[in-house]
Amino acid sequence: MCGIVGYIGKTNALHVIIPSLQRLEYRGYDSAGIAVIKDGEIRLAKKKGKISELISFVSRIDFPTFSRVGIGHTRWATHGPPSDNNAHPHLECSGKIAVVHNGIIENFSELRKKLEKNHKFTSETDTEVIAHLIEDALKEVGSFEKAFEFAVKQLEGTFAVVSIFSGEPDRILCARYKAPLVIGLWDENGNLVSSDIPSLLIFTKKIIPLSDGEIAIVKENSVEIKKDGFRVERQPIEVPWDAQQAEKSGFKHFMLKEIYEQPHVVVDTTAEFLSRWDELNLGEFQKIIITGCGTSYHAGLLGKLWIEHIAKIPVEVDYASELRYKDYIQKNSLFIAISQSGETADTLEAVRRAKEEGLKVVSLVNVLGSTLSRESDFVLHTNAGPEIGVAATKTFLSQITVLYLLAVFLSGQSRKSKMLYDIQKVPEKIEEVLALSDFIYEISEDVSKLKNALYLGRWISYPVVMEGALKLKEISYIHAEPYPAGEMKHGPIALVSPSTLSVFVAPRDRVFKKTISNLHEVSARHGKVILITTKNTDVKDVWKKIEIPDVEEFLSPFLTVPVLQLLAYHTATILGHDVDQPRNLAKSVTVE
Ligand code: G6P
Repeated sequence: MCGIVGYIGKTNALHVIIPSLQRLEYRGYDSAGIAVIKDGEIRLAKKKGKISELISFVSRIDFPTFSRVGIGHTRWATHGPPSDNNAHPHLECSGKIAVVHNGIIENFSELRKKLEKNHKFTSETDTEVIAHLIEDALKEVGSFEKAFEFAVKQLEGTFAVVSIFSGEPDRILCARYKAPLVIGLWDENGNLVSSDIPSLLIFTKKIIPLSDGEIAIVKENSVEIKKDGFRVERQPIEVPWDAQQAEKSGFKHFMLKEIYEQPHVVVDTTAEFLSRWDELNLGEFQKIIITGCGTSYHAGLLGKLWIEHIAKIPVEVDYASELRYKDYIQKNSLFIAISQSGETADTLEAVRRAKEEGLKVVSLVNVLGSTLSRESDFVLHTNAGPEIGVAATKTFLSQITVLYLLAVFLSGQSRKSKMLYDIQKVPEKIEEVLALSDFIYEISEDVSKLKNALYLGRWISYPVVMEGALKLKEISYIHAEPYPAGEMKHGPIALVSPSTLSVFVAPRDRVFKKTISNLHEVSARHGKVILITTKNTDVKDVWKKIEIPDVEEFLSPFLTVPVLQLLAYHTATILGHDVDQPRNLAKSVTVE
């Protein structure tokens, strides 16, 4: 997915922009480019392929070795194939204005048709229209800022746009509409712009997020934010992450590193929640509505189970992309939105729908300063640190930590201390599960040869198998269908055969025996069964058995999910897939 970086200040722009761009590589891209201002001229270098190719290209051409302002981009092709020409930045006809852009300009063909009469286009991108719009407006209004504002007003769709003009080299202009963009404050060294916080961490942790409809004028010593011509005051926030957390630190993939971080994540998230426990004032409500997408939605399903069982409060969970269209949303409800990125378009729209009904919105967010965190009444920070792998892992465990604690918090006094004690025992048990990695690798060698899998679990293990099947699909591209184990006999059992894998999740809990009966229905039909269960359970007729430590029944997802993450991870790597950047997927989906 596309990434944006910009820098203005005392240091060499090239030495800031290239390392920042490299920290966006994990997002996936097919070309990269950079534009700087030197001696009153824009100087441009762009290349199809990896950033390493851009670096080698820059060293071969006459590119300025020092400049104080520039913008860079990693492009993931949408309009026009990956090529040097389609790579960003894009220039207008005179070569004085450079533009980079993330998102999609929906009205680009109408704009292009009009502009083509007087402008020469050199790419097939939607982005290039922005450069020509600024060019035209600049002739009319004379000021870069006004021309930029005028151009942005004509755009429809989603965008983060960043631009420089050789005639006004003291500033970078930025605009955001439904695509993330943050400004990084690097003290006396200047200021940065980025579409993604981890790319700034090697320089600064102090950021100012932009909101939809805002324009920022970023200079070496100042940042001014405006909306509809009026100045917006916004204090910077300190990101609680450091650069090291956004590195692979010796692991082969970010995803594996993030799986291994999970014991710590549970500790850190618990500490964060307990430190805010006293401030948590959720007001009066009769019901809770939870929303989210993908993995965050699955966390919501576990949240429902805990809140209903432990706190006895009714909970409804809806996919954000569906909830938006509901005519009826019960007024006296508490609305909980779950999102790692805080930028998922569907989740944001669902929150806006809830706000229309006057509901109080509490969000579980991993990225502080994200749009969701700013649009919520109360934020519960999931505190998992930066998650770089596209497939969510540690943030799922951090979300379910918060939801479990929330259920305990809402339950009143009686069982609190026992339940808090129980979760504190979880991290060491996750360590035991992670120690099974080599064994799970061996099983994955066989799994990688299969084409279809059923993931089956009851009660608390049903959201778990949904998450496990999603992980397998996302990174190994093997078809996996999650089903409540009890429902299997009503249809999916027809799929059972020696070539269809059935992954049963059945820890020792109140539904264990019933799930095992379902398992026997599969093994009796020569299905290939992997069973994930608690140590010392006596189950026969399984192809492979993976044993987790004994755990209080409500907490088994903290152990069964890491097993399924490792199963998906190893299967995908055995198949040779790029697990950190799976095909067609994005870490943060800002389109509806
Ligand atoms: C994308 C990602 C998923 C993620 C979902 C929700 O589809 O690929 O891994 O679960 O978005 O993202 P969020 O940031 O809202 O949790």
